[in-house]
Amino acid sequence: MRIGFLHSLIRKEEKLLIDEFSQRGVELVMLDDRKMIFDLATGLEVDLVLERCINHSRAMHGLRLLESAGIRCINSSEVSRVCGDKILTSLALKEACVPQPPVRIAFTEESALEAIEQLGYPVVLKPAVGSWGRLLSKVNDREAAESILEHKSILGSYHHSIFYIQKYVEKRGRDIRSFVVGDECVAAIYRTSPHWITNTARGAVATGCPVNDELASVSLAAARAVGGGVLAVDLFETDQGLWVNEVNYTMEFRNSIDTTGVNIPARVVDYVLESAG
Ligand SMILES: Nc1ncnc2c1ncn2[C@@H]1O[C@H](COP(=O)(O)OP(=O)(O)O)[C@@H](O)[C@H]1O
Ligand SMILES: [Mg+2]
Repeated sequence: MRIGFLHSLIRKEEKLLIDEFSQRGVELVMLDDRKMIFDLATGLEVDLVLERCINHSRAMHGLRLLESAGIRCINSSEVSRVCGDKILTSLALKEACVPQPPVRIAFTEESALEAIEQLGYPVVLKPAVGSWGRLLSKVNDREAAESILEHKSILGSYHHSIFYIQKYVEKRGRDIRSFVVGDECVAAIYRTSPHWITNTARGAVATGCPVNDELASVSLAAARAVGGGVLAVDLFETDQGLWVNEVNYTMEFRNSIDTTGVNIPARVVDYVLESAG
């Protein structure tokens, strides 16, 4: 069995996955996105490619190029396209009737301000494409809204004028990150922080979260909605049950193995090998 490993910088997650493959005697073909040259024609002698890039555009386009050469990829380019864009993710969740926070999308400063006023304060503005909690703004009043929208329009690139606006969810100091591998929600953590942004990359503390029936079923529904595979789901606990905030397609799990007692990279490798047949 030969598995392609599409990557950039090798982080802790990639090290753990590579170790897991080597323990099972699987031959890995390392595909460094910093060195790859695609010519639209040449295939690769691999049974499947596992994607572990850092940059969304490289991942999405790399996957599409590999698929076009007839190679099955985890995750698929379509999953990366949907998960890499919060607008497309919200649409996929809506179409699958998966609960999510109220959201508005607008393309000008004026319409975005109107959308914000419709939703009511506080709201959260996010770049449609982005991660690690970067460039999120919690907007508490109209004056702040006007200022943020003006800054984004004038100082930001075109992409920052695609306004993705969510109602702020009172989430009791934490959110949930669940890990889906194929048809199973294998583990979950709470991410707790005094700051409203609870990414572990931003200092939130991870603790084990039991995977009950509701968490498993909402997580699996979210994963299925975006196309399925190996996915990490961000969820908020609300009075109306769990809401899905976003779905991540190149999941990070370094803080979640000891915390949950689940060997997440081993589960991912099991799934990849099973899928490669
Ligand atoms: N609508 C919201 N209400 C409350 N907190 C939010 C909201 N949106 C994001 N957050 C906080 O910010 C974090 C990062 O937001 P997220 O949408 O997951 O973006 P990223 O792709 O950068 O991780 C979330 O984990 C959560 O703690
Ligand atoms: Mg997130």
